[in-house]
Amino acid sequence: LDRHSGPKPLTGAHVLVTAGPTREPLDPVRFLSNHSSGKQGYAIAGALADLGARVTLVSGPVSIAPPRGVDMVPVETARDMLKACETALPADVFISVAAVADWRPAISSSKKLKLKDAGETLPSLTLSENPDILATLSKKRKNRPGLVIGFAAETHDVEELARAKMKRKGCDWIVANDVSGDVMGGSENEIALVTKDEIERWPRMDKLAVARQLADRIAQTIGHPGK
Ligand code: CTP
Ligand code: CA
Repeated sequence: LDRHSGPKPLTGAHVLVTAGPTREPLDPVRFLSNHSSGKQGYAIAGALADLGARVTLVSGPVSIAPPRGVDMVPVETARDMLKACETALPADVFISVAAVADWRPAISSSKKLKLKDAGETLPSLTLSENPDILATLSKKRKNRPGLVIGFAAETHDVEELARAKMKRKGCDWIVANDVSGDVMGGSENEIALVTKDEIERWPRMDKLAVARQLADRIAQTIGHPGK
């Protein structure tokens, strides 16, 4: 099946996707981050573009190339990711795939911290909470995307925790990711799609196949907004 010449049910739709990790600086050369590869988010952005959507991909630092036909906005911190998302609105769909760092160093030095600065004692790290991008966009009164989709990586009680997360964040669907195996950074994913009144368990499959199936589900749900 050639996706690129197939039907374009998302023509006229604008989809905003976040992907990758965020990087939270301690000083100009050090940061807090995580192991997100960006693979799943980039695959989703590409699959949506293949179905004709205009895709804005707000991405933290990753080592893979953006899919063709996607507008990539590079960011580093969670706060910058939120700003870039707000700037990209309005959107018909928002998909929050990024592994946003939950915390950042409370103080970030503009000069490289030196070994001797702390004197005899070791420096200690104070953290601040980052904004929750998914919750912020879900709870917008003006410009809320019509369909807001979050991800939840869990190692146990996947469905129950996903439902709680959906409620807390105010999103419409949660793609619940069972990370009890070796999916982090790998090429496969095992997911369950949790909606308001249903749960669909998908077989373990390639991240590209997950992306295509999710893009098809989105297309079925929002139809032809440009027509
Ligand atoms: N998310 C976000 N902004 C944050 C934290 C998370 O937008 N500051 C989004 C992620 O992109 C994902 C969803 O929220 O779509 C769930 O992220 P997750 O890390 O699983 O949830 P948390 O609320 O951070 O809870 P915890 O890490 O404790 O499981
Ligand atoms: Ca988190």
